[in-house]
Amino acid sequence: MNVVIIGAQWGDEGKGKIVDYLAEDAKYVVRYSGGPNAGHTIVVDGKQFALHQVPSGILYKDKTVFLGSGMVIDPEALFDELKMLKDNGIDWEGRVFISDRAQLILPKYRTMDKERDAQRKRPIGTTGRGMGIAYAEKAHRDGVRLADLDWAEKMAEFDGEDLEYINRYKDQLLSMRVDLVAKMHEFKKDNILFEGAQGAMLDIDSGTYPYVSSGTSCAAGACTGSGIGPHEIDRILGVFKAYQTRVGNGPMPTEFNEADESESELCRYVRDTGREYGVTTGRARRCGYLDLVALRYACRFNSMDGLVLTHLDIYDTMDQIEACVAYEIDGKIVTDFPSNVDMLNKAKPVLEKFDGWKTSLKEIKKYSKLPKNARKYIEFIEAFTETPVSIVSVGYERNETFIRKNPWK
Ligand code: IMP
Repeated sequence: MNVVIIGAQWGDEGKGKIVDYLAEDAKYVVRYSGGPNAGHTIVVDGKQFALHQVPSGILYKDKTVFLGSGMVIDPEALFDELKMLKDNGIDWEGRVFISDRAQLILPKYRTMDKERDAQRKRPIGTTGRGMGIAYAEKAHRDGVRLADLDWAEKMAEFDGEDLEYINRYKDQLLSMRVDLVAKMHEFKKDNILFEGAQGAMLDIDSGTYPYVSSGTSCAAGACTGSGIGPHEIDRILGVFKAYQTRVGNGPMPTEFNEADESESELCRYVRDTGREYGVTTGRARRCGYLDLVALRYACRFNSMDGLVLTHLDIYDTMDQIEACVAYEIDGKIVTDFPSNVDMLNKAKPVLEKFDGWKTSLKEIKKYSKLPKNARKYIEFIEAFTETPVSIVSVGYERNETFIRKNPWK
């Protein structure tokens, strides 16, 4: 069975924890897009791991993980990450493989990425990890794939620092190469979890272009970035937070207005309680009200079977919760997510109010045990997005999660 899990907002929805949770029932985990720009945090037995390129399933001793063809891989950062895992007692050897069709990031791409963003009239606020350059080189047909490392004619095109860098990692990389199409076919009868990176709203085609990342972070990327076709996908889950965050630049219609005293207080509360600081860059994340217009759009273009709600416990102490159900743009009410950046920048959220539950959710292990007002909030989201909330997370630990509908069954 094949389950795809993606971020349903602008990244940082808590995917790492959910992938780790669902990986228990999978035999293989495949990461299919992005690269070192991602930051997946997982807490196991009080120990925190920040993963950037290695799929989150690695923390289970019996799982094998794959880095897919849709990824752009920074070898230096990858081997640093693998060393960090080993230093923390995670034996990864023989369990991490890379698609021979995956692209590589050269060190100069990181510098080029930062320079390019600095020169932009409207900077995107990239993570500076070389992503955009690597994906552009791929689209230009000038990229370097893992399979190219033993293509003599291609390797003869490199010299100086690039060649020295490639030669430093070549043998290690080639020892981890696989034909992922063949592997996916071989494992057809097993449970495979496909792990997205970033979020649907940062997808190169359907996100808030040009303020997006450069990979295919939507559910369809699980096909283009791994080696299966659309028929092979059984379930698609989208992870979203009970509020909204975004890192870097670009429109965010429900962003808290920090010039307004009460919204700025709310922003500080959400940012600190939700630990809203980037795992990869340390940047403070922009925070705002849950944007249901954007979430419904993400549910639609990803054929989401279910949603995974995280950080619901952030609201435990609040009297009232608000969520955005429409935008007001130039005096008109808009309910479909606009593609035009000007419109998105002008959009003012139309907010729906919900009563808080004023109870700690930490110890709750069952949906039916949630306070009535928490269930009301969830049921509203389900009706609005026409998508069931299948999993709810109320804390950082693996066991602070409960399943309403198991995607593997
Ligand atoms: P890039 O992927 O480094 O090119 O950055 C493009 C945009 O995507 C920037 O606004 C980044 O902050 C954002 N971004 C990239 N990766 C992530 C992520 O994993 N979580 C949240 N935002 C991300």
